[in-house]
Amino acid sequence: MAILKIARMGHPVLSRRSQEVADPAAPEIRALVMDMLETLADIDGAGLAAPQVHVSKRVVLFRVPVERVSEQEDDEPIGLTALVNPVIEPLGDEIERGWEGCLSVPGMMGEVPRHARIRYSGLDLEGNAVSREASGFHARVVQHECDHLDGILYPMRMDDLTRFGFEAEMRRLAQAEAAAEAEAREREPEPELDLQDADETAVAQA
Ligand code: NI
Repeated sequence: MAILKIARMGHPVLSRRSQEVADPAAPEIRALVMDMLETLADIDGAGLAAPQVHVSKRVVLFRVPVERVSEQEDDEPIGLTALVNPVIEPLGDEIERGWEGCLSVPGMMGEVPRHARIRYSGLDLEGNAVSREASGFHARVVQHECDHLDGILYPMRMDDLTRFGFEAEMRRLAQAEAAAEAEAREREPEPELDLQDADETAVAQA
């Protein structure tokens, strides 16, 4: 195994379409995935696509860490998953915005619109078919990694570049917005008592 060098934005390998893998069970694909695993563990990322390690093949690796599982959705943590020749199908029209970073765009962060729900399919390293539905961070990381296979980096998906910048600045922005939102919620007037409910309460107390 080896820790591989990460290609950065501007390198041609990141902007071309990667090639389909003919045999997902081939030893060289397993070796590639093992090296990608070690590379990802070394940098503590959530996902990695083969072009990011200068290999123009349709292979991605991703996981959903416990801390990224949203409480509102029926999401669950997903262990490291390797997927060969993945295909994504959006489920519904809902678009969700969320912050993303990329090992190939180091030090930067941006808010990216993505499909809220998707179905993805592909092959595992034994050549078995894999098909899952995903939402939340799970859907986001899979869309981000699969975009790499088509030469797309997340800034190319953005529609508001004022929300693309250095990580420290964007974190500050996101925190300030979250605080302002929390404050606005606090200032909302208490919901007025429903008269009918008040009457019922009065009756019950009588
Ligand atoms: Ni990336």
